[in-house]
Amino acid sequence: MKEINLTAKIGVYSLGECTEIEKKLIEAAKNVTSAAYAPYSGFQVGAAVLLGNGEIIVGSNQENAAYPSGMCAERTAVFFANSSFPSEKVVMMALAAYYNGTFVKAVTAPCGACRQVLLETENRFGALLKVLMYSGDDTVYSVNSIKELLPLSFGEEMLRKE
Ligand code: THU
Repeated sequence: MKEINLTAKIGVYSLGECTEIEKKLIEAAKNVTSAAYAPYSGFQVGAAVLLGNGEIIVGSNQENAAYPSGMCAERTAVFFANSSFPSEKVVMMALAAYYNGTFVKAVTAPCGACRQVLLETENRFGALLKVLMYSGDDTVYSVNSIKELLPLSFGEEMLRKE
């Protein structure tokens, strides 16, 4: 038997080390947690995406009494961005989560389904999508591509006929 080890390159920054646009995006993600509709989990997630034209689009999680009908913050933001600006690439996303009266100290990482959607977004626009994952202690985890968080991924190349 052979073993392969897959590694992920994840940057860890203090908020102060982030660029101005990164800080702006993180602030937008934090602010929009207050727009979450999360009466069932109480876990309020905010996502902010930066488009190629400089536009910032935000989204929050929207829950439903029929649980699977709800939607995560990341997909709310990306789908709205792609619906409103279908030809603008998505270049960066920031994430934050608020729970029990405080920003969550654990790093806010996207769920598996959102990672898959972010992979599709990268492939669709042919551009890397940087993801900034905020933690309530003002630490930011950063990946330059969603592929860092989704090894052995299933993407459009699998469905190519040639
Ligand atoms: N949630 C998100 O919005 N994004 C994620 O990546 C993880 C989870 C939401 C879904 C649900 O409304 C709540 O957080 C608890 O799982």
